[in-house]
Amino acid sequence: MISKPLLFAAFASAAFATFALAHEKGATGVVKERQDLMDQQKDDMKVMGEMIKGTKPFDAAKAAAAAHDITLTAKKIPDLFPKGGSMDKSDALPAIWEKWDRFTANADDLGKAAATLETALGDSANQDWKAAFKKVGDVCKSCHEDFRKKEQGEH
Ligand code: HEC
Repeated sequence: MISKPLLFAAFASAAFATFALAHEKGATGVVKERQDLMDQQKDDMKVMGEMIKGTKPFDAAKAAAAAHDITLTAKKIPDLFPKGGSMDKSDALPAIWEKWDRFTANADDLGKAAATLETALGDSANQDWKAAFKKVGDVCKSCHEDFRKKEQGEH
């Protein structure tokens, strides 16, 4: 039987393995803007992931600020994927524009999940923030599965 903290640690490592693939590809314009935004979200997730893994001490205010940043940046996602825009050095899939409603719903879900996480972190008696963190990670993952090119070695 795996203990709960261990499960979260395993999740956090898996999340890092995925997010660590971000790199400078030399994209420009709106493609670079959205990649930078995603990299920022990855950094936010890392701040909280390290607290869950225990490599950094838990700091509720810092974690809440990271969650808040995801809430704000999630709202910008749809505008950074203009239809017919440049796809140079982009990992975005055409499915985004074929299933636009689902794509924007996914961005919406991210904002909501991050807001829930932020609330959980604001209430110091609330032990559910780790579960709320995992939900945010699930939304990132589910959007990437449907709308982002798989890079080599990624599952
Ligand atoms: C609504 C869909 C969606 C959601 C939600 C989403 N992403 Fe992304 N993400 C994408 C797409 C599409 C790309 C590819 C963008 C491109 O290359 O044009 C991407 C790219 C990335 C990249 C690579 C950026 C680079 O430098 O190339 C990282 C890192 C990333 N996302 C992290 C995250 C994290 C962390 C979350 C959750 C907090 C998240 N994403 C939520 C769709 C999403």
